[in-house]
Amino acid sequence: MDATTLRAQARRHLGPHFTRKDTWDSEFPIFVRGEGSYLIDTEGDRYLDGLAGLFCVNMGHGRQDIAKAASEQISTLAYASNWGSAHPPAIEAAALIADLAPGDLGTTFFVNSGSEAVETALKFARQYFRSQGQPQRTKVISRDMAYHGTTMGALSITQLPKIKDPFGELLPGIRSVPNTLGFTGDCGPVTELDCFRAIERVVLEEGPETIAAIFAEPVQNGRGALVAPDGYWPALRALCDKYGILLVSDEVICSFGRLGHFFGHGVTGVVPDMVTFAKGSTSGYAPLGGLIVREQLVQELFNSSTGGVFTHGATWGGHPVSTAVAVANITAMRDENVLGNVQEQGPKLMEALLALKNSHRCVKAVRGMGFFYAIELMADSFSGRELTQAESLKVLREVLPESFKRTKVILRGDDRGATMIMISPPLVADAEVLSALLHGVDGMLTDIEKAIQP
Ligand SMILES: Cc1ncc(COP(=O)(O)O)c(C=O)c1O
Repeated sequence: MDATTLRAQARRHLGPHFTRKDTWDSEFPIFVRGEGSYLIDTEGDRYLDGLAGLFCVNMGHGRQDIAKAASEQISTLAYASNWGSAHPPAIEAAALIADLAPGDLGTTFFVNSGSEAVETALKFARQYFRSQGQPQRTKVISRDMAYHGTTMGALSITQLPKIKDPFGELLPGIRSVPNTLGFTGDCGPVTELDCFRAIERVVLEEGPETIAAIFAEPVQNGRGALVAPDGYWPALRALCDKYGILLVSDEVICSFGRLGHFFGHGVTGVVPDMVTFAKGSTSGYAPLGGLIVREQLVQELFNSSTGGVFTHGATWGGHPVSTAVAVANITAMRDENVLGNVQEQGPKLMEALLALKNSHRCVKAVRGMGFFYAIELMADSFSGRELTQAESLKVLREVLPESFKRTKVILRGDDRGATMIMISPPLVADAEVLSALLHGVDGMLTDIEKAIQP
């Protein structure tokens, strides 16, 4: 079928996700093949996948070893559940994850997406506290502009009004605290920073005995790759310990190599009580998400008089094909020193992006680490003029989509709190691919400057 017919059918029959009607009416690309860090569309044009799909194709496209693992599993055992019985791929994946995860983060509940992983963490926290005689601990704290997913629980703790408001009332007892925007690296004692002190203030306002969990990402995506200041995570861990609150590290993006480590612990130095994951666990070769819980907490729930069972599950949770894919993907990630590539190339990528900031007056800031960056835009860094709302919309809806097509580099324009470009290449991208990526970014920034008068 040709691209025109495919697009027409898509417009009629395929519901797009988070996509404006005018985008769906446009000549949007249709990708038919993937090779390494590149996607190929219906016209045979190659695009550098600078966002690794949606922050997920960590091992790159087109890996035959992962495809083979999926195919072998489908032919051997396409389906069995993890309800009262189990199957080898889910067990192997859970054991592999336990081996790589820090501390006693040793029990994985598999689900099918990042939202479901967050939903599972919320439910575990609530049931855990009920089982321990603390049913009043139901409230949750999360950070300003953080995205934690779309299902009603995950959406409740998401702190982006624009994507919550269309749905009216969500879960009660959710409080927002400041994110770490403006604070990174050495900012002095963290417990004296406003962005940290506000968390304890909210805990005390609400009553510490009513707070179940604090959710935070090692590097926050919403508001643009926010890297916390030194000491922030140990202080957050200490705060949770002081008040008996569960610390949940939402690593849907940050785990499986995005920051150069298997888990956020490699950056934060902290063992959270729960870790959510999804995207990079299968590099997008099959849908999978999961919640890793400290073994002690699972045992306490299982052994409690009211517990005995985590009252949660899903037909597809830990699907044999997805978990077989996870085993192949994570094993390859471990054995091919992919994280070493991120650790080596990440700082060079940051340096090159900072150089682009110096040569483009439309760049306000560059943030991030590993293979995860945000470029925050403004009209003119020389005069300090910010983009007007109309200019921001023009950049996001007109300039960038055209620029992605022209440069053949796909990134993501983001309007969550600022006008930004998000960068998150496959972890296998080598110096040559990253150089092509940077060339594309350079071109995009030039396009923006042409479209916006300083
Ligand atoms: C930190 C975080 N949590 C949760 C989610 C939701 O994941 P999914 O889209 O797989 O439901 C995302 C998705 O980007 C995310 O970045």
